[in-house]
Amino acid sequence: MQEKLNEIRQSVRAKLDAAAGSASIEDIRVSVLGRKGELTALLKGMGKLSPEERPIVGQKVNALRAEIEGWLERKSAELAEKEKEQRLAAETLDISIPGEAVAMGNEHPLSATLEKIISIFTGMGFSVAEGPEVELDKYNFELLNLPKNHPARDAQDTFYFNENILLRTHTSPVQARTMLSQKPPIRIICPGRVYRADEVDATHSPVFSQCEGLVIDEGITMGDLKGTLDTFARELYGEGISTRFRPSFFPFTEPSAEVDVTCAACKGKGCRICKGTGWIEILGAGMVNPNVLEMCGIDPTKYTGFAFGIGIERVTNLKYNVPDMRLLFENDLRFLSQFGKGRV
Ligand code: DAH
Repeated sequence: MQEKLNEIRQSVRAKLDAAAGSASIEDIRVSVLGRKGELTALLKGMGKLSPEERPIVGQKVNALRAEIEGWLERKSAELAEKEKEQRLAAETLDISIPGEAVAMGNEHPLSATLEKIISIFTGMGFSVAEGPEVELDKYNFELLNLPKNHPARDAQDTFYFNENILLRTHTSPVQARTMLSQKPPIRIICPGRVYRADEVDATHSPVFSQCEGLVIDEGITMGDLKGTLDTFARELYGEGISTRFRPSFFPFTEPSAEVDVTCAACKGKGCRICKGTGWIEILGAGMVNPNVLEMCGIDPTKYTGFAFGIGIERVTNLKYNVPDMRLLFENDLRFLSQFGKGRV
């Protein structure tokens, strides 16, 4: 018996000394201590021994078992450590290699202008409202005092899905939606894309963007409109810029005005950009027509309001001196990368 134990002891020792990987340690463990292992077989065979021999042999087997378990544990820790070292050596990072530069894009000039417009108006207490680009005739025209067959619809021909559903021609339908869903005081701007059946040229595109504004409260006057737009123009183009109101017509405002700002390029002296006038038109505005208030559920004897619609491409091109609207949509990186510090 002692011989057999010595044999097992030596063979395990030899196998452990030769073991090269932590996986083979497990094989050794199974071959000795597993259910069908050599030492387990010895324990199973103890029944054949005499009662006097049994405890002595049992003690020896258990002592060997404890010894082997200790070896297995140490060897496996040793191998695991060695394997970790090998892995670390193989994975060495050379932190002196120059990194690959991540190409940074920059904001599109239209987005930059829109962000600026939003920050100017939110600074004056406006909140931002949104509406759908696929719009109902009711909101795009009817509730804005443009009933079916009104001649002013001609200037805003658009893309129709059917008689009542169209691509919105302006952001003004958001006015109607807001008045129907909120009670005064109302102070919103609504930026977004709009659509018209226009041919593409330097100043027209079938898709463009506007930013609508609407203020409704008791006692709102044309003076409030003028003050708001003057502040906006100064914040956007700088000190010394003011606005000029020219009488105009929009069915949804009465009175209505086309609003010009001082030409930022010549500071009003007159140049090629402003065609010698010193002024540049950037938006339409007016006092909300009482008919519109009434149709949208607001009492026109109690409340008044003003509204305006800014053309964002126009404002952008004036701000950055871009001569052709198409440049904003063509996505030519040579053009776009001029608007930021980062590389495109
Ligand atoms: N919706 C007009 C357009 O697209 C612009 C406009 C003019 C909006 C006057 C307004 C406004 O809210 O009061 O031509």
